[in-house]
Amino acid sequence: MSVPAGPPLDLHCGDCLDLLPRLVADRGGPFDHIIADPPYENIHHAHHARRAITRTDGRPSPRGVAYSGIDDIRCPAAAAMVSASRGWVAVFCLAEGVRPWHDALVAAGGRWHGTMAWVKPDAAPMFAGTGPARGFECIALAWAGAGRRRWNGGGGRGVLTCLTAKGGAVPGTKPLPLMQALVDLFTRRGEAICDPFMGSGTTGVAAMEAGRGFTGIEIDAQTFLGADARLARARRAPALPLRPRPVQAAMDLS
Ligand SMILES: C[S@@+](CC[C@H](N)C(=O)[O-])C[C@H]1O[C@@H](n2cnc3c(N)ncnc32)[C@H](O)[C@@H]1O
Repeated sequence: MSVPAGPPLDLHCGDCLDLLPRLVADRGGPFDHIIADPPYENIHHAHHARRAITRTDGRPSPRGVAYSGIDDIRCPAAAAMVSASRGWVAVFCLAEGVRPWHDALVAAGGRWHGTMAWVKPDAAPMFAGTGPARGFECIALAWAGAGRRRWNGGGGRGVLTCLTAKGGAVPGTKPLPLMQALVDLFTRRGEAICDPFMGSGTTGVAAMEAGRGFTGIEIDAQTFLGADARLARARRAPALPLRPRPVQAAMDLS
């Protein structure tokens, strides 16, 4: 029995700052969209490096963040992503990263749209009790194309409520339903999506399932091998007609 080919899948191990311009040149033009989940701001990485947690109850200790924060490469990364997209550039960041991402994306020629929120109802508490824990992350949005911005969400709000991913292959692994929602909202069937900070490949799985082409870049060789295997499986799997959706709900302020 022949296995259906599935949507185009192209994975690269290396530094996206070098690879993105080369891939754009090789394919003869930009991707339709960039959906990127780069390292967070340095403030987050410094915090996690300082405060390693060792569990004594036999359950696995949370892993440290092995890669550096984005601050030092934010401007070249923004420039590479804006040049590599003819549509959206959507970038995960902390709330503290929205302004620097705005400045970097606009300086690179992107048209700023605004920010979405990913609300995490099961986010880790602030164990020290010194203040509120982070309960949401942001997605900075710029349009890199020439024409009108377009998305598939009508007049909907940019708030996605979704449980965090458990046991992901890299720290910061995104939940699949969240990435499915972003792929559905911002892209169309047959379009080419690139995630230059691929990690374990969650964006790619969402893209494959929805019939979008996917190009992923990951700098860490071990992480890359895991993503490669995961995406090869996803590409062979039949598309699911019904998928769990993150909830767009009003906040209960009572
Ligand atoms: C937050 S993780 C991505 C997680 C991913 N969304 C997932 O669900 O698995 C960020 C990834 O970017 C990779 N990375 C960091 N700098 C990079 C660079 N310059 N080029 C390519 N990948 C890079 C890291 O190794 C890490 O795997």
